[in-house]
Parts: sequence; structure tokens; C-alpha cells
Amino acid sequence: MSFLKKVCTLTAAVSVTAMLATGAAQAKNFKIAVGDSGGSSQEATGLGFKAALEELSGGKHTATLFLNGQLGSEQDTVNDAAIGTLDMSLLAINNVTPFSPTVGVFSLPYVILSLEDAETLTQGPIGAELTENTINDAGVRIIAWTYTGFRVLTNSKKPVESVADLQGLVIRVPKNEIMIDTYKSWGISPTPMAWSETFAGLQTKVVDGQDNPYTTINAMKFYEVQNYVTEIRYIFSIEPLIVSEQVFQELSAADQEIILEAGKAATAASAQFLRDKEAEIKELLVEKGMTISVPENNEQEFIDLATAAVWPKFYESIGGVEKLNAVLAAIGRDPVSQ
Ligand code: MLT
Repeated sequence: MSFLKKVCTLTAAVSVTAMLATGAAQAKNFKIAVGDSGGSSQEATGLGFKAALEELSGGKHTATLFLNGQLGSEQDTVNDAAIGTLDMSLLAINNVTPFSPTVGVFSLPYVILSLEDAETLTQGPIGAELTENTINDAGVRIIAWTYTGFRVLTNSKKPVESVADLQGLVIRVPKNEIMIDTYKSWGISPTPMAWSETFAGLQTKVVDGQDNPYTTINAMKFYEVQNYVTEIRYIFSIEPLIVSEQVFQELSAADQEIILEAGKAATAASAQFLRDKEAEIKELLVEKGMTISVPENNEQEFIDLATAAVWPKFYESIGGVEKLNAVLAAIGRDPVSQ
């Protein structure tokens, strides 16, 4: 039995029974905007969701993925889902933060230190609370989590092994204050740019570099326009699947349950994709000509500068220092002082 089938089987009986009990609702083909290309972690989540949705609904419902930002920039898709003109979107959490600031706790630099941390946080009470917040703040509900891996820095100009090496580079960042301030803490003023414009920005050399996880760098073919990678690993990228709350509320209770269960299967598929593929993809990028630097001796400087400048600045927007401390406690780390 396939991995996905095992996940679905656990919940299929309950969900199909619930669906039958409330009668047949309209069949639906959910339109999902996907920021990244084929081969990405986002696509793995989307395909996991589609397969589980079809199985759990007995073939009644399906989903169509619109890859590579075809339906607009990631931040625009949040607005479209909020007003119900788009069903779902798969996007990086940093592009949800402007609409629901408390999810920014997952983008604070050097908070999440492993895939296991990311799973613990998103699948526990903290993930549930942030999901409630996105419904109230942004009109979208998180139904699955993509675990894309640590963001690494790429650039076209030179190897970067220290904060000093970064100086002079023009780095694209998402339109996200936490990430902008993180680069400022390292002494450079980054260029905020929509994800959908980033490949062109790198190709035309409007910007020298950007950061994203290995699976994303590969799926987006950044190796065609970037030569150097630095494992700064400052954020573990989490990329939720969101559904328009308006669309969700129009579904029957049974269909809502199917959507939520399919989301759990999609989350599991995403974790499996990362565990299976990340190391292989990293090797592929080297074969494609990228040079990887690991700033082992200088990593502490990146960490110290970013955590000292950025964490306190965002306590208020994430809901108070106690929210950060709850996150740290959940992953077995010491609290910061009030
Ligand atoms: C970004 O850099 O804006 C995002 O990480 C892009 C993505 O969704 O992969």
C-alpha cells in the first residue's frame, strides 16, 4: 500500500460515512494556485491533497493545480481567496504574514531548527491557534502544511561565507518585514520583490541573489541564473495550503471534514517528499554547477546579529514575547527573558 493510501485509509471510513449521512452535495473541482513550479515541495503537497480528496470523496471532488504563479503573486492569492474568487492557494508562510502577523513567529530567524520542530509546531496547539488567527485576520483557513526545508542564500557573484562577504550584494527578499530586517541586521538593505518576479529579477541582474530552500531552488531552475549557495539556514520554510473561508463555509459539514482530512494527508505527503528528496536535490544542484558554502565558523555571527535585532522588534506583532516563548517551549528550547 502506498504511503498516501495508508494515511487516507486511517480516515476514509469516518469521512465517507459522514458524507453519506449528510447526502450528496455538488461535485467540485477546487482551483489551487501554486506559487512554485512542478517538482517543488508545494506541488508534492498539492498532489497529496488532490489524491486524498479524490479518494476520501469517492471520486466526487477533485482539484486542479495552477503552478508557477499562473494565478498571480502569492500575496495576491491571499486576497483572492479571502473574497472567494479563488478556492485555495499554496504559498510560503512569509507571504501570509502581511495579512495575519502572528504567523510571523514561524519566520523569525533561527527559531525552528529542524523538520521535526516544524512538524511539532504546525501540528500541535500552536498551529491550531495560528490557523484560527488566519481565519479571523485574513479570511483564509490553513488546511495543510508544506515543509520545504531551510532557506539557503544563492547569488550570482561570489562565494559568501561570512556576514562580511554579504556586503555589496543586492539580495531579493519577499515583501516581509521580518526578512527585510534580518538582512538589515547583517548590514545590507535587501530588495523586496514578489515571488512571481524573482526569476526575472535574477536573470536580468536587477538583483544578485535571493534565499529559498533547496527543493525550491531546483524546481524554479535558479541554477540557470545563480552560481553560489550559502547554507545560512536562517528560516525553515513552511508553506501552507490555504482555503478561502468563504468557500469552506459553503461546503456541507461532510465535505468540510473531507477537506480537513485530505489536508492532513497532504501534510504527511509533504514531510515524506522532503525526507526523500532534499539530499538528492542538493547533489543535483552541485552537478548543475552550483558551489555550496557552509559558514560553519561564521554561523554564530549570523545568528547573534539576527536574533538580537529581529526577535524583540517583532514580539508585539506575533502576539507578545510569551508567544515566542510558547513556541520555544514546544520544541524544547529555553525561553527568552521578558
Ligand atoms: C518567497 O521567497 O517569496 C517564497 O518562499 C516563495 C515560495 O513560495 O517558494
